[in-house]
Amino acid sequence: MVELGVCYYPEQWSKEVWKDDAKRMVDLGIRYVRIAEFSWALVEPKDDHFDWQWLDEVIEILGTAGLDVVMCTPTAAPPKWLVDKFPAILPVDKDGNPRKFGARRHYCFSSVDLLREAKRITKLFAERYGKNPYVKAWQIDNEYGDHNTIYSFSDDATHAFRNWLQKKYGTIDKLNEAWGNTFWSMRYNSFEEIDTQRNMLCMTTPSHEVDYIEFSSDQVCAFNKAQVDIVRALSPNRPTTHNFMGHNPDFDHYKVGEDLDFASWDSYPMGALINANISDDQKRKMLRTGLPDQPAFNNELYRTVGRGNVWIMEQQPGPVNWARHNQSPEDGMVRLWTWLAYAHGVDVVCYFRWRQAKFAQEQYHAALLLPNGKPDQAFFEVEKIAQERKALPATKKQQAPVAIIYDYKSRWGARALPQGKGYDPASHAFEWYSTLCKLGVDADVVGPHVDFTNYQAVFVPDMMIDNLDFVEKLKQSKTKVVLGPRCGSKTDEMHIPDQLPPGHFQQLIDVEVTRVESLPEYADDPIEFDGKTYRADGWRESLSTHETALAHFTSKYRHGSPAIIGNDKCRYVATQLYGNFLMHFMQDCLTWAEVASLGDIGDLRFVKRGKLTFVFNFGDDTREVEVPPNADILLGQKNIPPADLLVWEE
Ligand code: GAL
Repeated sequence: MVELGVCYYPEQWSKEVWKDDAKRMVDLGIRYVRIAEFSWALVEPKDDHFDWQWLDEVIEILGTAGLDVVMCTPTAAPPKWLVDKFPAILPVDKDGNPRKFGARRHYCFSSVDLLREAKRITKLFAERYGKNPYVKAWQIDNEYGDHNTIYSFSDDATHAFRNWLQKKYGTIDKLNEAWGNTFWSMRYNSFEEIDTQRNMLCMTTPSHEVDYIEFSSDQVCAFNKAQVDIVRALSPNRPTTHNFMGHNPDFDHYKVGEDLDFASWDSYPMGALINANISDDQKRKMLRTGLPDQPAFNNELYRTVGRGNVWIMEQQPGPVNWARHNQSPEDGMVRLWTWLAYAHGVDVVCYFRWRQAKFAQEQYHAALLLPNGKPDQAFFEVEKIAQERKALPATKKQQAPVAIIYDYKSRWGARALPQGKGYDPASHAFEWYSTLCKLGVDADVVGPHVDFTNYQAVFVPDMMIDNLDFVEKLKQSKTKVVLGPRCGSKTDEMHIPDQLPPGHFQQLIDVEVTRVESLPEYADDPIEFDGKTYRADGWRESLSTHETALAHFTSKYRHGSPAIIGNDKCRYVATQLYGNFLMHFMQDCLTWAEVASLGDIGDLRFVKRGKLTFVFNFGDDTREVEVPPNADILLGQKNIPPADLLVWEE
C-alpha cells in the first residue's frame, strides 16, 4: 500500500493549531510527518543555549495522535551566531569570495569547523530523540546541492583536496602524468602547490577538473556518513535517508546512497518542465502536466540509489515559487504523480508542505492547506488516494526488461570537456529513457555497478568514462547492448584510450572513433536509416569499422560514412538521436532485443508494479485503452480522462 506523509513546520504556526493539525493529518490518511530540517537556530538560539521544549511537545502531539515522525538533522541551515563564531563554515565561490549568511545551505562541505559542529548537533538530536517511540526514521540534512552548493573553493577545501590527491596518486610525478602536466608547462613539484579552480585564468586540465568534482563528491559522502554513523549508533532500528534533488549531477548519488538505508527524492515536475532544455512548443503542450517521464526517470534512479527502497520526501502539491515561471498543475496531477511514483516502486509519498507559508521566501508555494487552514486542491486529491489505495493489493516492483545507464563520472567528464554546446549529456540520457516510456517499455535507470545478468537490453546513452568491469559484465550476460556517442572515449584520468574510443567497449564491437565534431543547430547533416532520412543532432563521429552499417551520413562531407553500426551483441551510434529518429531507432533495437513494446502510445504511460498495470493519461483528451480479457480493473475505467489513470490486475 502506498503510505502518505507531509512536511510540517510547526515552528511557523502558533501552538494552538498543532493538535488540530495532527488530528486532521490522521483523518486524511497521513502516516509520516517530516520535521525540523531547518530548526538548528530554534533549538540552539545562542552559543550554549538550548530550547528543546517546543520540539519535544510537537513530537509528543504528533506521536500520540498516531503519526510517525521523520526527524531531520538540522545541518542545512547553521545559525548566524555559529557562522560568526566560525566563519570558515561559509563556502567560498570561484572568485575566492566567502558566501554570506541570510538564506540556507551556507556551508562548505570541507570546513573542519562545520563538520565538528554538524556532528555535535547531530549527536544532541540523536541522543534526545533517537529512542523516542514516535521517531521512526531520520533524514540527514536537506537536499545536498540545492542552490549550487556542492563546490567550495575555501582554504579548507584546498587543503582537503591536496590530501585527497596525495592519497589517490601517492607521488606528485604520478599526478603530473595523470593530469598531462607536460602540457602548457603545468608541472607541480609537490601536492602543496596545487589549488582548487579558484581564479584560474582559463580552463584547467580536465583531469584536474574531474578530480576536483570527484573530491567534492567524496566530501559530501563523508559529511553524510559522519551523521549517519552517529544516528545509527544512537537511534537503533530507525532507517536513515537523504532527500536528493532529482537530476542533480554535482556529486555521485549512488555513492551517498550506499551509506543510507533508503533513498528519497524531491519531486517538482512543474519547475523541472520550465527549467528543462526543450522547446517552448514542448513546454506549452505539457504546461500543466509536466514532462511525464521526468518524475518517472527520477523514481527509477532513486530506486537504484536506495537499492530498492525509495520514497518521495517532497511532492509538489500545486504551484511552486522558485522556477522561472510557476504555473499551476492541472487539477488531478498531484494524485497522478503519487500513483505514478507508486507504480515505479516508490513506497511512501510525502507532500511539501502541510500548510502554505504566510511569510518568508516561499509564500507563493502551494500546500495541502491554504495559509488560513482551509483545504486546497491537493488536500482533496490526497483524500481520494487514501481511499483508492484500499482497492489495490500489496505488490513489489520487479526488475524491468531493459536498463538505461546513468553514470555520474561520465557527466563530470562531459562537463570538463564539453566540446561544443551541441552535446547535452543530461537531455541525451533522459531522451533515451523517455523514448522507451513512449514505446510502453518499463526501464530501470541504473549505474554501471549493478548486476546485468537478467536484462534483455542495456542502453548506454553517454558513458564517456571507459569502464572495463562494466564491459566485462555486459560481455558475460546475454543482454544486447546499445552504445551512444562518446562511450568509452576517455580513461579514468580523462585521456584518450590507447586503443582509441570506445576503449574497452571494442570488446563488444569492432570500431575506432577517429574524429568527433560538435555541430551547431543550423547544421544540416542528413542521415539515412531504414529507408528514412533524419539528421545528426549536435554531434557527429567518424568511425573506422568492419561492422555492418545500419545508418549512413549522406551529406557531401564524408558521404556514406556509418552513423550507426551493429553486430549480434552490440550497436554503436555515432551521433545524438532525438525525436522521430530516436523513436524509430529505439523501436528497431527493441525488436532486435526481442523486448515487447506497445508502439507509439503518445501521452499515455504504462507502468507495471507486480501484477498491477497502471496506465496514466498525460494528454488533453480522453483515451480509450484495451484492457486484457483476464484483467480486473481496480481503479478508473478503460476510457481514461486527462490527468487521470486506470489500474488493472492480471
Ligand atoms: C526544496 C526544498 C524545500 C523547499 C522546496 C520548495 O528544494 O528542499 O525546503 O524549499 O524546495 O519547492
